[in-house]
Amino acid sequence: MQIIDGKATAAQIKAEIKAEVEHIVASGARAPHLAAVLVGHDGGSETYVRNKVLACEACGFESTLLKFEDTITEEELLNVVDQLNNNPAIDGFIVQLPLPKHIDEQKVTEAILPEKDVDGFHPVNVGRMSIGLPAFISATPLGILTLLQRYNIPTKGKKVAILGRSNIVGKPMASLMMQKQYGDSTVTVLHSHSENLAEECRQADILIAAIGSPAFVTADMVKPGAVVIDVGTTRVPDATRANGFRLQGDVDFNAVSPLCSAITPVPGGVGPMTICMLMLNTLQAYKQFAKL
Ligand code: GUN
Repeated sequence: MQIIDGKATAAQIKAEIKAEVEHIVASGARAPHLAAVLVGHDGGSETYVRNKVLACEACGFESTLLKFEDTITEEELLNVVDQLNNNPAIDGFIVQLPLPKHIDEQKVTEAILPEKDVDGFHPVNVGRMSIGLPAFISATPLGILTLLQRYNIPTKGKKVAILGRSNIVGKPMASLMMQKQYGDSTVTVLHSHSENLAEECRQADILIAAIGSPAFVTADMVKPGAVVIDVGTTRVPDATRANGFRLQGDVDFNAVSPLCSAITPVPGGVGPMTICMLMLNTLQAYKQFAKL
């Protein structure tokens, strides 16, 4: 059984990005610049955004963090988006989700210019990706695809089961894995109303779990020799940890890992790749802007 080391792979890709940025800056051009908008004080969101800023530093990017209290109105937030859209010094930006209930997330997402939407959440990017046109691909599915490629895991013609149908992971993952130019696989998407869910999972050569249900995938759901990708990162209470919690994936790692040919751990699997792919998308946005 092979551990798919997302942390090491992400570190390697960030080093590649840094080398490319150093080369660009040495030629006299400015560095890529990512902005992140954070509303409120959600613990998870604050951590994610902090890690995104740190990743910018590691890649030699400029970064700007715009923080607002959760009393900000929808109109004020839409104005912030508008300013970022029109700021030529910003190549790409993200508005960290979730947003407070009084703000329409879809409206905010659709206000971001598709060419600055490095999250790949705008319907234009989602649509372009789904018909195989150049687009910003959302970071988690792109990170998983990159891990499969870098670990030389064959996907062509393989049975891929995806647990979860979210807009951020399940749906784009399914779209990518089925397309000839990406996964070229046979894809099954499973969700809360799927019949024979365990049996369907057991058919899969590659099982991708993205439902946010801690340790949902048990040994009886995995075909011996399968590749298992765990997207879950649920905070579960853990009195032995200084911060009082640990991250638990969607897969019961101890029970499932002995069966697999390869598996991503939590933490250290898909998570670090997600931020790394955001950096890659930002570099792409910069290149399109600068027309390098
Ligand atoms: N919330 C959880 N994941 C993400 C992400 O990838 N981007 C944004 N903007 N918000 C998130």
